[in-house]
Amino acid sequence: MALKIGVVGMRGIGNNHAECHKKDDLAELVAVCDIVRERADEAAEKHGVKAYYSLKEMLAAHPDLDIVDVCTGGFENGSWHFEPTMEALDAGKHVLCEKPLSNQVDEARRMVARADELGLYLGCNLNHYFTQPADGADERLANGDVGQILYCLHRMGPPGGEFTYGGAPSDFRDKDAPYFHVKAFLAHPFSIMRHFCGDITHVQAFMDQPGYRSSAGDVMLSVNSIHVRFASGAVGYLLSQRGDSTFGLGGWWSVEVGGTRGSFVIENCVEKLSYYPAKGSENADALEKMAGFGSPAPIVTNSGVTDFGATFPTRIHAFLEDVTNQVPRASLRASGRDALATLEYTWAAIESYEQGGALMRPQPLPQLRAEPPVESK
Ligand SMILES: NC(=O)c1ccc[n+]([C@@H]2O[C@H](COP(=O)([O-])OP(=O)(O)OC[C@H]3O[C@@H](n4cnc5c(N)ncnc54)[C@H](O)[C@@H]3O)[C@@H](O)[C@H]2O)c1
Repeated sequence: MALKIGVVGMRGIGNNHAECHKKDDLAELVAVCDIVRERADEAAEKHGVKAYYSLKEMLAAHPDLDIVDVCTGGFENGSWHFEPTMEALDAGKHVLCEKPLSNQVDEARRMVARADELGLYLGCNLNHYFTQPADGADERLANGDVGQILYCLHRMGPPGGEFTYGGAPSDFRDKDAPYFHVKAFLAHPFSIMRHFCGDITHVQAFMDQPGYRSSAGDVMLSVNSIHVRFASGAVGYLLSQRGDSTFGLGGWWSVEVGGTRGSFVIENCVEKLSYYPAKGSENADALEKMAGFGSPAPIVTNSGVTDFGATFPTRIHAFLEDVTNQVPRASLRASGRDALATLEYTWAAIESYEQGGALMRPQPLPQLRAEPPVESK
């Protein structure tokens, strides 16, 4: 039976999620809600469901909801996630929350703890690894084609530069929020690095911004250079920027994971996976095995997908599938705990930057209880 869904926060992303639920056989969209009445009404009309102007009203009118999908934003794109998520969990609903789980790490810790206490699923829309290239890379890792992972190099940030800069932001967000980009965006690249390489134990960060931002009075630290060590001993590097420059190799989103048996590179998130067999491996041809610095030719897979938007229905379907199948909570894909990890790393990066690049140890993640999930009320 399809899971009954109510979406909270009906602007761009809420409408996107609502559309995904409508098209997914595992879901039945039954209600939408926004504190701005016109947005709720407009979305309700568009999706053919009922409008509510508070989550409280929506929960009262639909006690049979299975999932509340939190698509609010707020300060630093995350300050309005905590309240609706806690309210929905307390009402016995599973929750899918947009990233970042919160703009405050202590709130995110409480959200994960509450879902765990209540035995409910808390997922996060960490959609960037719900792609064909990431699936292909997972397969390479599982087959042993990468061997022992030694490093991870990741770059993420929309293309731009001084010609596209729109001036100091007029809204409140960036003026008083030097960490807007760090808190609102790094959930994605950190989720990628952790997905492929595991937990991060050490973080060192430098942050800056281009001169055109500072002369416009914009305080956002939009260029972030972050060096990490993984629990496995592998090392990693993340370079993130917010439309300040245009990445060359690999486009706006690229990751390279290198190991003792081979390396893979994903370009433009959804587009292309290249596997580079290690020199001397049976995947590398004989000539290349012999040549001095010659690298074995990569095995390239183009997905044929160029639209990043394709990650939304795929990720949402995975959440619906996990809830339908009642997977153990620890196996939930892109869980609240996974999202908390990205915030612990973000907080360590901020602390490191504030201490002039000091080495930081992110707070370890909580262990989830082993009980099976409860049915939503
Ligand atoms: N995963 C991704 O790739 C991705 C991409 C873009 C944005 N996002 C995230 O999606 C979220 C939403 O983005 P957006 O651009 O649509 O945000 P937005 O701020 O434009 O819209 C949020 C809506 O939520 C409503 N709202 C706020 N608090 C509410 C409450 N308590 N109850 C009901 N409605 C409430 C607001 O009135 C507004 O209409 C953000 O957290 C953002 O970080 C994720």
